[in-house]
Amino acid sequence: MKKADMTPHFTRHILCIGAGYVGGPTMAMIAYKCPQYRVTIVDINPDRIAQWNSDSLPIYEPGLDEIVKAARGRNLFFSTDIEKGIQESDIIFVSVNTPTKTFGVGAGMAADLQYWEKTARQILKCATSDKIIVEKSTLPVRTAQAMERILFSTHNGVRFEVLSNPEFLAEGTAIQDLEQPDRILIGSRQTESGLKARGALVEVYANWVPQERILTTDIWSSELSKLVANAFLAQRISSINAIAALCEKTEADVSQVAKAVGMDARIGPEFLNASVGFGGSCFKKDILNLVYICRHYGLNEVAKYWESVIEINEYQKTHFVMTMLNAMFNTLAGKRIALFGFAFKADTGDTRESPAIYIATRLIEEQAELVITDPEALANARADLKGVEGKVQFVEDPYEAATGSHAIAIMTEWHQFRELDYERIYRSMAKPAFIFDGRNVVNHSRLYELGFNVYPIGKPALTRL
Ligand code: NAD
Ligand code: UGA
Repeated sequence: MKKADMTPHFTRHILCIGAGYVGGPTMAMIAYKCPQYRVTIVDINPDRIAQWNSDSLPIYEPGLDEIVKAARGRNLFFSTDIEKGIQESDIIFVSVNTPTKTFGVGAGMAADLQYWEKTARQILKCATSDKIIVEKSTLPVRTAQAMERILFSTHNGVRFEVLSNPEFLAEGTAIQDLEQPDRILIGSRQTESGLKARGALVEVYANWVPQERILTTDIWSSELSKLVANAFLAQRISSINAIAALCEKTEADVSQVAKAVGMDARIGPEFLNASVGFGGSCFKKDILNLVYICRHYGLNEVAKYWESVIEINEYQKTHFVMTMLNAMFNTLAGKRIALFGFAFKADTGDTRESPAIYIATRLIEEQAELVITDPEALANARADLKGVEGKVQFVEDPYEAATGSHAIAIMTEWHQFRELDYERIYRSMAKPAFIFDGRNVVNHSRLYELGFNVYPIGKPALTRL
């Protein structure tokens, strides 16, 4: 048994490899809650580490600045020295990205595990003492086995135990989710050493999470539960979006249907907001991954079932563009359209897989002139639309974005957009003025009274045309 050298006053040295949307906030919370542990976060991207060490953190997340500033330099450290980090730690979280593979076998479906595998090999190369390796990234079921095979491939006396501890935080509410999680899931091998490692990780979380919320399982169930949780959440959105399309044909109101259905305690009210479609870095990739795994095991009907969740989401985005085109007399060429929001959801600057990317691209193809406004996501929006040929402006002020526009399309449910002076906005727009509410966040009847032609999701349009 080889022990890591520890700075005397810290009882544990925790390392996280990958300083992204998950690694950063998750480790900041551990450091904040557990001053007795030294927590180091490393990344291959020096710019990202420099930002974590600066006053301007690389991600926008309500409440994150406060906890980082409280712990940074005390027991929370950001570094590019991965080798030293590995040597000095006894628990290593791996939180690198696991995007959809874009090449070779499984392209467009399977998880790209190259970053994850490089990490496993680097741990093996640098480790000089026993380690608990924690899979924090979302991974295909049975990845831990591959991780073990790499880690156990040499016999230098160093012992590794692999645990699965998927992360369930949502962006925009990450700090709250980390502070009061619905559950912490820890999967381990059911061996003596596996259970001991599990105990060590339970102890970390037990510093602030009640024991009854720490769920322990076998390792495969833990890995699979993460993919399934995301699939179920996305499925609810696709279910309500599919019903929204039916509501638009039948004059039913999707919000009222969702309320009536969600009041059934067996169904519940969450995640039933019809929208322009779900975005974010994970739902699509994790479902594709699930579909790929099902196909791998020959479960084609199961694969098809889950694939349909993505198909409805694609349909929803196309349907939104078609509604705009049809309503605006089948031509958008030369029309100025203000996109209110570009982030994939409110309270984040993240635009990964945002429906706004697809919709902006389609509108530009129709030769519309876009003016994009978002309180946090303009830098990412610029990067996403780089190379797309057409007229696009990025402005901070939504009033400026709306001025002279023929239409507003709400892409993100930022609370700022609910509180705007729409009377002023209406006056500044070209007439007839249209608003397409991709999030059902504004007061539709009031906007109609102001003169707008209003197109919500899953509700009858309010229009004088
Ligand atoms: P991210 O892209 O924001 O961060 C990943 C980081 O890992 C990057 O900074 C990258 O430079 C770094 N990295 C890659 N290879 C490395 C290596 N070999 N050594 C050191 N650093 C390396 O990704 P993320 O959003 O934080 O997601 C990470 C994982 O967590 C994914 O598997 C994702 O599915 C999962 N997850 C994400 C969320 C979310 O809300 N974003 C929530 C739950 C789970
Ligand atoms: C989601 C899950 O909620 C997290 O539990 C999970 O950890 C994470 O994915 C992950 O694995 O990455 P996130 O994508 O950050 O979190 O945000 P969500 O709140 O789930 O929203 C996802 C998308 O669905 C957003 O575009 C949102 O606007 C949309 N959505 C959400 C709807 O269209 N309707 C709803 O009712 C809820």
